[in-house]
Amino acid sequence: MLLVSRLSKAFGRLQAVRDVAFQVKPGQIVGLIGPNGSGKSTLLNCIAGTITPDSGRINFDGHDITAAPPDAIFRHGIARSHQDPALFQRMSVLDNTLLPARNQRGERARIAPFHRLWQAQEASLAGRAGGILQRLRLRNHYAARASDLSGGQMKLLELGRSLAGEPKLMLLDEPTAGVAPNLAYEIFEQIAALRNEGLTFLIVEHRLEILFDFVDHLFVMHLGELLAQGTPAEIAANVQVKEVYFGE
Ligand SMILES: Nc1ncnc2c1ncn2[C@@H]1O[C@H](COP(=O)(O)OP(=O)(O)O)[C@@H](O)[C@H]1O
Ligand SMILES: [Mg+2]
Repeated sequence: MLLVSRLSKAFGRLQAVRDVAFQVKPGQIVGLIGPNGSGKSTLLNCIAGTITPDSGRINFDGHDITAAPPDAIFRHGIARSHQDPALFQRMSVLDNTLLPARNQRGERARIAPFHRLWQAQEASLAGRAGGILQRLRLRNHYAARASDLSGGQMKLLELGRSLAGEPKLMLLDEPTAGVAPNLAYEIFEQIAALRNEGLTFLIVEHRLEILFDFVDHLFVMHLGELLAQGTPAEIAANVQVKEVYFGE
């Protein structure tokens, strides 16, 4: 589904990502781990199109998306969430969730003045957004401003907003950062449920004890390069990984 080959990205003299190749198969939950500064977020940003790689190729679902702009990549079916939630703080929880819906008629200038032309679509989108909020236990907060949510709820709302765009692949950058342990486990249970409904995930996560319970496959980065890959059991037993990642 996602095929990354020989990808490199430098910031000045710092080689943040060097010659990285990996793939994600449909229906997988794939983990991307590595010490701080190893290039994980840069890699996600290259895939999402917010950073243009210096060299290499990214293919998604049969399309070459290397250097495509973020909106084109989103239309191909890739959504992402950020390490620090990038919400519209002054908008309501519901409005944040409604933003990514595709082909909203009321947003077209010539249709917007005529309420009856978009009312039914808006109602149906709001209904679907309500379903997403329900599943993430945010429904009771639908009218609250995003800025009034707890840190954990903000992470959930970002996940919900990504879902509303009906992606095929979700790139999640530390979905449980700053979230209480119970809620962190719950977020991963939601991710597993969504995978069972057909979604595919590439997840950067520092909480290995939770991540290892849910992923099918892991890639380990170190100093911009791919150090190892394998199942959770293989990675847990990998000596090189222990050295760089766990400092043993
Ligand atoms: N926009 C940027 N400009 C300059 N350096 C950056 C930028 N983004 C990341 N870096 C550097 O690239 C390296 C990899 O960063 P990052 O991809 O954020 O790592 P990770 O997500 O694995 O912690 C780090 O040394 C970081 O300081
Ligand atoms: Mg990062």
